[in-house]
Amino acid sequence: MLAASRSLHPPWWQSAVFYQIYPWSFQDSDNDGIGDLRGIRSRLEYLRGAQHSLGVDAIWLSPIYPSPMHDFGYDVSDYVNIDPRFGTLKDFDDLLEEAHRLGLRVIMDLVLNHTSNQHEWFRESRASRLSTKRNWYCWADGKSFGRRPSNWNARFGGSSWTWDPEARQYYLHSFLKEQPDLNWQNPSVRAAMWDVVRFWLDRGVDGFRLDAINWLGKDTRWPNNPFRFGLRGYTRQHHLYDRDQALAQESMQELRQVVSAYRDAVLIGEAAADTPGGPASFYGEGDDELHLVFDFRLMKSPWCAKSFRLCLSQHVPSIPQGGWPTIVMSNHDQPRHIDRYGAGGDAEARARAAALLLLTMPGTPFLYYGEEVGMRNGKLRYRDLRDPYTKRFWPFRPGRDPARTPMQWDASLHAGFTTSRPWLPLPPDSSQRNVAAEAADPRSLWSLYRKLLELRRMSPALHRGDYRMIEDSPRDCLLYEREARTETGTVERMLVAVNFSQRPCEFAFPSGSSHGLVLVSTNPDAADSTWNPTQIRLGPDEGRLVRLS
Ligand code: GLC
Repeated sequence: MLAASRSLHPPWWQSAVFYQIYPWSFQDSDNDGIGDLRGIRSRLEYLRGAQHSLGVDAIWLSPIYPSPMHDFGYDVSDYVNIDPRFGTLKDFDDLLEEAHRLGLRVIMDLVLNHTSNQHEWFRESRASRLSTKRNWYCWADGKSFGRRPSNWNARFGGSSWTWDPEARQYYLHSFLKEQPDLNWQNPSVRAAMWDVVRFWLDRGVDGFRLDAINWLGKDTRWPNNPFRFGLRGYTRQHHLYDRDQALAQESMQELRQVVSAYRDAVLIGEAAADTPGGPASFYGEGDDELHLVFDFRLMKSPWCAKSFRLCLSQHVPSIPQGGWPTIVMSNHDQPRHIDRYGAGGDAEARARAAALLLLTMPGTPFLYYGEEVGMRNGKLRYRDLRDPYTKRFWPFRPGRDPARTPMQWDASLHAGFTTSRPWLPLPPDSSQRNVAAEAADPRSLWSLYRKLLELRRMSPALHRGDYRMIEDSPRDCLLYEREARTETGTVERMLVAVNFSQRPCEFAFPSGSSHGLVLVSTNPDAADSTWNPTQIRLGPDEGRLVRLS
């Protein structure tokens, strides 16, 4: 499976490993407690330097544009500039230049569905019904008796409609009221956004992560969404008319045309996990829409072999020829996977086995900053919280701030992130759980990530190979093979075996009797490095990577 991978020289984004940086939290250089671009630049060698670096290929920067930060940058007030908290365009150019010098690609986050209510476009739009920008957003009159134009619910709670006294109409916002939705039916909106795309590509960026794409396009007759019973909040209605319209796909195809003028630029889509047709629906025919689309199903799943098996047997094969899968376990919107997968078990052991899966399953992996040292979700008090969504549902939903705490670099005060008070507090264990301590320890999670990244880079089977799932493995174990022809014409074969249960697991290798060498055991205490195909033994939550001969 994965025929596209047969090419000896696939596009860079198929064999690359991406690393998501949350700019607020990576490195502060001016000691205001907030991360910034110079800070990120000072840490690029860590990500891909000549020595002792982690060894990733690309960084994705969550939004760095000017923003009132109601949604921490996902409310953009100017798409062609840098927020002063993070620096200047010059700082950005310097960062890009240094990243490229190190062989590190840089992709931007592009927020398409909405702008900030402070954006010039919205200010003009709300000023008058006669404004040339009026039609750039979604305005509607109320219904009789002061009712809103429709019953649509916003993703972050409450109605999607807010009355604007200045405009004397309601405007639509699928997220916060400070994030008015653009009207994607208007060709001028699309043209303006494609100008933004060209602005950054001309500056040298390597592509975009596209925010919330399944929300582009609405039924502008504003019909009510049908109700669903038994569920709460946002999921209490079928979102039939306020998202998942065909216009989203059409717009992404148009965008693909725009970027096709730039060799090598990559488009990576973020669609809600429950978008109809799943992420596969945004690959078009495989070569005319998005290059990569996040698949959040592993991010929503508990630690169990079944979900990972489903991913390999159904989700990956559903991607059209020419498209390419993604592997994502954590990001800035969800609790970190060490805690999610770790719930009710040995979180450390599972994080190690998850690293093996992340870096050997077929597809492009996305790491989230700090997962390589096993950063946990911050245990925050209400008064620490900053994200309005997290505050609104606290303490009933885990929220997003706990996964956004500052990067843990070393054992110094504030973990080397800043010398003043960090915008979100660091956990007490940052003096042990940090890059400096783990990089010095060959048994650490960090050292495991580094080793897997290196093996992946060196191994055609792992970074571009076909895969085959081994069906008749025990229920709690997952087994798959990766295979590729190398430049010299030989065939390289790798086997991955992971035990998801808390019991040791022993079984005979199901198909044939290949001999092999264990390259990695995720258990730092595992003794045997030989691979006996007639009798496989995996400890609780242990994974192994084996080179087959
Ligand atoms: C995406 C982002 C999230 C943001 C939302 C609205 O889901 O990942 O952080 O709040 O879109 O822009």
